[in-house]
Amino acid sequence: MIFGRVKPLDAILATAEKKSLHRSLGAFQLTMLGIGAVIGTGIFVLTAEAAQKAGPGMMISFIIAGAVCAIAALCYAEMAAMVPVSGSAYTYSYAVMGELLAWMVGWALILEYAVAAGAVSVGWSGYVVGLLEHTLGIDIPNALVRGPFDGGLVNLPAAGIALLVTWLLVIGTKESAAVNAVLVTIKIAALSLFCILALPVMKATNFEPFSPLGFGGISAAAASIFFAYVGFDAVSTAAEETKNPQRNMPIGLIGSLGICTIFYILVAAGVIGGVGAQPILGADGSGLRPGSPELTAACSAINDGAVVCSKEALAWTLRQIGWPQIGNLIGLAAGLALPSVILMMMFGQTRIFFVMSRDGLLPAMFSRIHPTYRTPHVITILTGVFVALFSAFFPVGVLADISNSGTLFAFAMVSIAVVVLRRTDPARLRPFRTPAVAIVGPLSALGCVYLFFSLPAETITLFVIWAAVGLVVYFAYSYKRSNLGRGVVDVPEEDGNAPPLPVPPMPGVPTGRRDA
Ligand code: ALA
Repeated sequence: MIFGRVKPLDAILATAEKKSLHRSLGAFQLTMLGIGAVIGTGIFVLTAEAAQKAGPGMMISFIIAGAVCAIAALCYAEMAAMVPVSGSAYTYSYAVMGELLAWMVGWALILEYAVAAGAVSVGWSGYVVGLLEHTLGIDIPNALVRGPFDGGLVNLPAAGIALLVTWLLVIGTKESAAVNAVLVTIKIAALSLFCILALPVMKATNFEPFSPLGFGGISAAAASIFFAYVGFDAVSTAAEETKNPQRNMPIGLIGSLGICTIFYILVAAGVIGGVGAQPILGADGSGLRPGSPELTAACSAINDGAVVCSKEALAWTLRQIGWPQIGNLIGLAAGLALPSVILMMMFGQTRIFFVMSRDGLLPAMFSRIHPTYRTPHVITILTGVFVALFSAFFPVGVLADISNSGTLFAFAMVSIAVVVLRRTDPARLRPFRTPAVAIVGPLSALGCVYLFFSLPAETITLFVIWAAVGLVVYFAYSYKRSNLGRGVVDVPEEDGNAPPLPVPPMPGVPTGRRDA
């Protein structure tokens, strides 16, 4: 009976105890960690896509997506504090809902992490290409800096940054807390500067019509802009390293999400009020799909451009309102800070693959460790090649939507798992308890379902196909090889045949924190 394959929580926790971590993180560090992982391509680039879907109503979209993330974050925090081991939503699901659903969550997380890394690479490329053009006058042909669906052939800078980050991960690069703090400061400074310059020149008329494509448009933009909040789960996975998690975990999660939401709404207001953000409509009055050839063609016909056409929405807005040099500085900030988001996403992906491989669900080769660098190089290189291919050929919005579909599925599963576990195992020690879980859990799951079904139909279809392929792989390969299925509950770390769990420090978390 496949649903009976539940990994005992005590076995998972016993593994965690063997490598207990020093509790060093306070609320401030957690908040910095969250902001470092969250602010990226979403606000710097996808603001243009949100405007194309919702017009000025995208301000509501930012609030909706932020609210869904906040309640999902509270559910994540309870699981992360209770099951503080690698693997995130995949591990939680294994312990609560069994192997099949855990496999599906892990399979969906591939979309979350690898495809998101591709999206952020494309976003980085848009800013760096714009920066080269406006500062050095280097005009690279579209054929080399845009994918085939976006008016070009191949996005070489995007593929290049993905491969560079892959190499950094293979040689064992970790982002230290100090580097994270510098990058957070750069991002906050860039967004603050944007608000200081754009908000005073807002024109009320630019907010009209507020919602040209109705609530459907606002929901569609919320589903896409959800990407701007992804990454906060980095905070919940640091639960084991947190001092007084019951207090600091919700402060870190809600604090980083709250700060990001406020910035996002102000930045959105600055874009809308500064340059207007009306969508470009097709002949039938519907908004043209971001990343589609139709929108690319319509954009190239507009002489002065429009923010919905820009690949570097914030820099473009500043150039339009008379601050070209500051626009270039914003481009520089994005160019410097976005690679760390790519690094975190790819790191997360390799960690998930690694744990799934250790559980026997993926080939053991995936968890092979490099003899010199002590990193899971095989899976890192494989992930990097796919991320580079995604980013070379697909537009940022399409990749972000696909990533969101996987993330929303995983968040919904975690929200359900929290409620289930409260019933099946009420006595277990919970360092952090989701407040009003009977309401928050189902609300979070419903919020994720609502955003999921607000994604474009093509994205939903792709997710269903991806899930079906996942089921085939599970029954054809993983089911028979599962360690749990074969009666091996825990693979000892020091087993000569098993690869050691690298448990490298999470990006942004101070190093040297391990007790054992
Ligand atoms: N939230 C991250 C970003 O917007 C993934 O780039």
